[in-house]
Amino acid sequence: KSSLSTSWLGKTVKVMKTVDSTNLEARRLAEAGASHGTLVTAEEQTSGKGRRGRSWVSVPGQGVWMSFVLRPDVELENSSMLTLVAALAVEKGIKDAAGIDGKIKWPNDVLINGKKVCGILTELSAQMDELNYIVVGIGINANIEQFPEEVRDKATSLFLETGKPADRIALLCRVLEHFEHDYEIFKKTQDFSMLMEEYNSFLAHRGQEIKVMRGNDEYMCKSGGINRRGELIVEDSLGRTREIFSGEVSIRGI
Ligand code: BTN
Repeated sequence: KSSLSTSWLGKTVKVMKTVDSTNLEARRLAEAGASHGTLVTAEEQTSGKGRRGRSWVSVPGQGVWMSFVLRPDVELENSSMLTLVAALAVEKGIKDAAGIDGKIKWPNDVLINGKKVCGILTELSAQMDELNYIVVGIGINANIEQFPEEVRDKATSLFLETGKPADRIALLCRVLEHFEHDYEIFKKTQDFSMLMEEYNSFLAHRGQEIKVMRGNDEYMCKSGGINRRGELIVEDSLGRTREIFSGEVSIRGI
């Protein structure tokens, strides 16, 4: 099905052939007053952005590169959880549209067979303690046929995993529908209490050893699930439980 059945998300859409970055475009639209749910999507990004200042390769016509503006009435401190809502939506959207199971690498990468198929970049604009808007940017490697040598063991596409081209429109529609639905659930409690069970069922590395890196600090621990605050519960080598908070969203003051 390639029609969109949301009620507010993606009802205003800007479809572009080429753009520097859909996140940048969504931010420009937000600054110019774009409403809650405004979507930008492009065939090609000339400077797609990843997290931590990295770039994101966006092969023309072979992916879903999109960003949307949210003007959520949630507390600033709870807004970083929206990135987890997005990961959950992508996981389910991929399953519906491409028929393949992904896993979520906390907080917000989606993996298939251990390789990354989707990245999410959430950017936030706040004034004092008031949230102004959030841009959620989602990149799904739909039909990429070949990755550069150096990322081949880390990145994959739906095409490479399923052996058939993915319907990019269907993918985009299903992800938006799941996001809108789960966003409304999230909003009720402003936490993950009603979503964490489902999120945890998709979690990669659950019960396994993982390496946690925080600045120069690095330690091994056993991964549990997330709690209602969206933090990852881990057990360190001494059997102590820790909750890790992801400082993934960048905060800009205007
Ligand atoms: C990451 O995993 O580092 C995040 C990657 C996010 C990529 C998407 S593609 C659509 C949107 N526009 C951007 O410039 N970045 C995000």
